[in-house]
Amino acid sequence: MTRSYERLKRCFESIEGRIPFRPKAALVLGSGLGEYAEHIQVDATLEYRDIADFPVSTVSGHRGRFVFGHIGTVPVVMMQGRIHYYEGYSMEDVVLPIRLMHRMGADLLFLTNASGSVNPEFQAGDFMLITDHIMNFVPSPLIGQNEEALGCRFPDMSEIYSRELRESVKRIARELGIPLREGVYIQTSGPNFETPAEVRMCRVLGADAVGMSTACEAVAARHMGMKICGISCISNLGAGLSPETLRDEDVRITAARVAPQFRRLVTALISRIGTSVHPGEEKRDG
Ligand code: HPA
Repeated sequence: MTRSYERLKRCFESIEGRIPFRPKAALVLGSGLGEYAEHIQVDATLEYRDIADFPVSTVSGHRGRFVFGHIGTVPVVMMQGRIHYYEGYSMEDVVLPIRLMHRMGADLLFLTNASGSVNPEFQAGDFMLITDHIMNFVPSPLIGQNEEALGCRFPDMSEIYSRELRESVKRIARELGIPLREGVYIQTSGPNFETPAEVRMCRVLGADAVGMSTACEAVAARHMGMKICGISCISNLGAGLSPETLRDEDVRITAARVAPQFRRLVTALISRIGTSVHPGEEKRDG
């Protein structure tokens, strides 16, 4: 058994008795979107600092806890605060919470984030359904000895964001009258925002939005066979696409402005998709 897998098991064993139910879906709440957890029926919370050998989010505005609750009838575990590579954690640390939520039982993963636009047609406040990603500027979370109990050595990533879920998301957004962009997300290391030249480079590479998270989590989740849906809130125009300088505060202000729409969308997605989608057999060990 690999060291990282032993650690995952240790983490799980330290919290097993405090998990109120087997979650169907896992949800990661991005910058400025964390307060979603205040708007659902909460059954239990679990602080990251109370989990053995677990990384703790150091970013202000990221709470650092799991929230267990129900969205509609779907049992959900939410990360209120994610772990970022730019905080100095290893990629193994960054994706440990994703692996832990899968171990709790979640087979659907909803990833959200705030990002900067790269596509010049996008505006601050838009939502973008992530169709695919580029993460070659940060290391893969799968580097190192492979743990077969989690997934195979060379996992396929040709449909990392489930087409079936994307079709459902588009239909539901249309029904709710919520405009939804679609595009490719590119993950950079951060913590600095990009230069205008880097944003132009991202565009040449085929990206529509840029951010500092998410793609690595999707890779770790896909490795384990989870079904993934990603939604990005375009919180600002990428560097050079507007005359403004970029400030984290503005990211937060925009995310807060669109939070009610975001809540409506996520609630509808999870309550409907969570009862209708059943991923194939999951690989688990004992
Ligand atoms: N760049 C990278 N990450 C981000 C941005 C951005 O412009 N906005 C929010 N997260």
